[in-house]
Amino acid sequence: MNTLDTVIIGSGPGGYVAAIRASQLGQKVTIIEKNDIGGTCLNVGCVPSKALLHAGHAYQEIRHAETYGIQATGTLDFAKTQHWKNTQVVKKLSTGVSQLLKKNNVTIVMGEAKFTSKSTISVSKDGKTEDYSFKHAILAVGSRPIEIKAAPFGKRIVDSTGLLNIPTLPKSLCVIGAGYIGCELAEAFASFGVSVTLVEATSTILPGFNTKLSDLVKRNLQKLGVTLLTEALVVSSKETEDNVTLTYKKGEVESTIESNVVLVSVGRRPNTDRVNIQVSGIELDPKGFVKVNAKSQTTNPGIYAIGDITPGLALAHKASYEAKIVAEAIAGHASKIDYKAMPAVCYTTPEIATTGLSLDECLAKNIKAKATDFPLAANSRAIAASKTEGFVRIIHDEKSKLILGAQIAGMNASEIITTLTMAIETGLTLEDVALTIFPHPSVSEAIMDTMEVGLGYPIHM
Ligand code: FAD
Ligand code: NAI
Repeated sequence: MNTLDTVIIGSGPGGYVAAIRASQLGQKVTIIEKNDIGGTCLNVGCVPSKALLHAGHAYQEIRHAETYGIQATGTLDFAKTQHWKNTQVVKKLSTGVSQLLKKNNVTIVMGEAKFTSKSTISVSKDGKTEDYSFKHAILAVGSRPIEIKAAPFGKRIVDSTGLLNIPTLPKSLCVIGAGYIGCELAEAFASFGVSVTLVEATSTILPGFNTKLSDLVKRNLQKLGVTLLTEALVVSSKETEDNVTLTYKKGEVESTIESNVVLVSVGRRPNTDRVNIQVSGIELDPKGFVKVNAKSQTTNPGIYAIGDITPGLALAHKASYEAKIVAEAIAGHASKIDYKAMPAVCYTTPEIATTGLSLDECLAKNIKAKATDFPLAANSRAIAASKTEGFVRIIHDEKSKLILGAQIAGMNASEIITTLTMAIETGLTLEDVALTIFPHPSVSEAIMDTMEVGLGYPIHM
């Protein structure tokens, strides 16, 4: 039996960040990974999806360059796009993370870990098994796509990993589930010229977002030629050599759609059912998420859990934030999780981003709050790029003028939301931000303008 100090299971944005921070804090750290270093995020999630979206946007920009007086014809070589994504983006980052782990004296063990007791694990690879005991463990095993009975995964019915790695572009794609993955990948593939149909069970795409934000995405997807079917439920599927026929129900009416490939993106489930959790002393909630306290410590005090296996949004930056807190908690610091300002971004057109509280959440908490909007149509940088769709919305406490939340739709929303996350984290008021000097011209100026609207003395509106 090998004895370990701090062991981390899983090397995604939760696991690798926890490993580096724990090592920086003086712990002797071992990380165990069964697939690729970097987890879902780097290999088959955030990073490759943003790379394909970027390539799709570049293709669309070239095809519509006449807006800026440029005559250009673009030709797409999708095999080269995939090669660029795999070698210049994914491989580069994954190798970088391995190097960071080694430079921080983290021992990497490749293999699949399973609990054998409350303080021991076994790690298996290629038919060989090693046993380890640990003082502290951080469980960061992430999540996997949910499969539905009506359209089980097969050769042409794929999950996000299958679609991200598809070698050639299909002519047509049907996407089941218009959440984060469905909308981002529908946009990427429609931008490459694929005929895309989105099938969503609820009445709107991106149901987790306010319709003021998601309606802008809807309009743009439709402009790209995407067919949207809402309140539609797929009831069965039939795969042939070249096609998939989906039968779906909208109300009582049954119809079919045919496409070359189907993406199923109806959510993800935690991988807690695959680590022999029952012997670990870790309790799960009814949905399979790990029950944790404010330090992200499980019901076994020696084991912490982070990332997609804990309740809340399944986002890479949530996993990395929790990672730093647990590494500090194990080191004896009084660190605690605080999700006061958790950003969430969907990288569609326009990008939509939220942070802090929404108006409805304020209402539920009995906070007297007000929302102020400023349109990007009045922002000079957005006008200079012909990308005026969108707005900044700030939620503030009516009495103290403290900034409580924000929602942004528009170009660079994923970047400028951070200004507001920091404003909430540091307890800034409308006036604090209104009197901050923003560079001109910049989309972020719309944040300053929104504050001025909220204070009742707008300049640009
Ligand atoms: P993961 O990244 O899933 O890592 C878990 C790791 O544990 C994996 O490498 C796995 O192989 C390993 N593992 C599992 N079981 C074992 C075992 N028994 N032994 C050893 N190793 C094991 N989030 C964002 O914030 N922004 C985005 O833009 C974004 N885009 C996404 C796009 C797609 C297509 C997908 C699928 C997800 C996206 N996400 C995004 C979500 C994000 O990827 C996850 O929230 C994040 O990766 C969770 O991190 P994690 O460390 O909890 O788990
Ligand atoms: P999701 O929860 O975002 O969306 C799933 C969608 O499928 C919902 O709109 C839901 O109503 C719909 N749905 C569920 N069952 C259905 C059915 N049977 N038929 C039709 N529609 C159905 O899940 P998704 O897109 O799979 O992504 C998983 C998670 O990964 C996200 O929740 C998010 O946390 C993370 N992610 C984050 C991204 C980002 O931060 N930009 C990008 C991609 C993923």
